[in-house]
Amino acid sequence: MATAGAQDGPPGPAGVFHRVADTYDAVGVPWFGPIAAHLVAELDVRPGERVLDVGCGRGAVLTRVAEAVGPEGYALGIDLAPRMVELTARDLADLPHVEVRLGDASAPDLPPRSFDVVAASLVLFFLPDPVAALAAWRDVLVPSGRVGVSTFSGQDPRWRAIDELFFPFLPQAMLDARTSGYNGPFGSGEGVEGLLRSAGLVGVRTVSRTIEATFRDAEHYVEFSRSHGQRAMWDHVPANTLDDLHDEVVRAAGASAGPDGRITFQQDVRYTLGAREG
Ligand SMILES: C[S@@+](CC[C@H](N)C(=O)[O-])C[C@H]1O[C@@H](n2cnc3c(N)ncnc32)[C@H](O)[C@@H]1O
Repeated sequence: MATAGAQDGPPGPAGVFHRVADTYDAVGVPWFGPIAAHLVAELDVRPGERVLDVGCGRGAVLTRVAEAVGPEGYALGIDLAPRMVELTARDLADLPHVEVRLGDASAPDLPPRSFDVVAASLVLFFLPDPVAALAAWRDVLVPSGRVGVSTFSGQDPRWRAIDELFFPFLPQAMLDARTSGYNGPFGSGEGVEGLLRSAGLVGVRTVSRTIEATFRDAEHYVEFSRSHGQRAMWDHVPANTLDDLHDEVVRAAGASAGPDGRITFQQDVRYTLGAREG
């Protein structure tokens, strides 16, 4: 799936995203864009503001933020996956008020009080110490600056059942990240709100939305699931089991096909918002 330019990459979750960067958000399933659009709307990003997009990936948030702040504003995306940075920087090269850089979400090397808004869509649950990361994001905000994160919550049981086919092959750390809607602080809205409060953020609140993903057929579902972070699940399946598991996934996904063959799954997405004290 990945191109010759994206074989290696950093250790940990960013390495997977480095390898899938060429297909990420590019297989004809509107998914990261709609999730990001709600985050940008909830953050109420305004013309002229300076926005940091942490774990920017292929720019689902960054492109929307770039438009919202306009040429008088500034949008910076950082990501630890070199290929994500390379491709997103190329895509947004025509926008002089936008920058994309290699950077660690856990410790962004940026001046204090230099942003009005920090956004992180589907990133926080990958970080080893989410509270420390949030505290670092708080420090780069101006007083009263806003922060917003999106995380997964309730999952369509039919989709969950497909994910569960992979569980016997996955290490615990991956189960925690991918199934973040079920365990630890990411298991509830209160849990994620607690992370923001522990990082010293105030006015913390949660908004929930249900996002739909539609696939042409079961093979399109497989293509989608291999094109983003879920690729790591496929990579953990032993080679001698891969064909059988592929067939099981196709069967399970196909069982949800409508009369036109299309498959639509729902995913609840949680938006947790807070601010630096004024
Ligand atoms: C699920 S993707 C989300 C990307 C983008 N925000 C979106 O909504 O499409 C997670 C992103 O976080 C990045 N990431 C993971 N760990 C990171 C870290 N420690 N620092 C910066 N980026 C990181 C990955 O490389 C990947 O691009």
